[in-house]
Amino acid sequence: MSSQAAAVTFTFCGHSTVLCTLADGRVLLIDPFLASSPVCPPDLAQPSRVDAMLITHAHPDHMADAVSVAEQTKPHSVVASYEVCAWLEGRGVGNTHPMGIGGSQTILGDIKVTQVPAIHSSGLLDGDRLIYGGAATGFVIRLPQDLVFYHAGDTAVFSDMRLIADLYSPTLAFLPIGDHFTMGPREAAHACRFLGVERVVPIHHGTFPMLTGTPEALRAELAKRGLDCQVVALEPGETWSP
Ligand code: NI
Ligand code: MN
Repeated sequence: MSSQAAAVTFTFCGHSTVLCTLADGRVLLIDPFLASSPVCPPDLAQPSRVDAMLITHAHPDHMADAVSVAEQTKPHSVVASYEVCAWLEGRGVGNTHPMGIGGSQTILGDIKVTQVPAIHSSGLLDGDRLIYGGAATGFVIRLPQDLVFYHAGDTAVFSDMRLIADLYSPTLAFLPIGDHFTMGPREAAHACRFLGVERVVPIHHGTFPMLTGTPEALRAELAKRGLDCQVVALEPGETWSP
């Protein structure tokens, strides 16, 4: 990995929310659940700079703060499904870049984003109406200097994660491990095997009592299977460079 790629940092805001800061200072925000999150540290609750915001699916614990963050930071690109983008546009969010599963687009000039499947649901409550949110998705993101990472959003494990590995070769994955609404540690260990990633950052655990999966349990499940994948357990507020 080049020195510039090494200068990329990931700040875990808790739950599934990840801030990726590039060497040149540009900021990607994935799944804005910040001020509304019970675990987001106060100093991260209102980011001052977001160049691109990506949303995996329309559940409040992944986009509750999308509109307010967009109002504050005016991202150049807001990337999500057609349905999530349409909903955001209706609330005044500009620069939406809707996309569909299987497709890729280049954002901010040099960052390639591919939308990939997730096995999950997607919908938003608006008053007493439930609004269809399109498909639940994940993203594979190729940064300049070829650092490729996968943010799975909320999903079960699925064997086509092998296809994600074949097509895009991510070396780093952000995977839900909390169980109950997504895969748990046992399934996430299989996901690591399918993906062939060197490192995994566990997300979507511990935020609420029913999300019982832990990074320690994931380490144990990987070890049980002899899988050589490093578990990078980040606390909310922690910044890490791959
Ligand atoms: Ni969800
Ligand atoms: Mn969720």
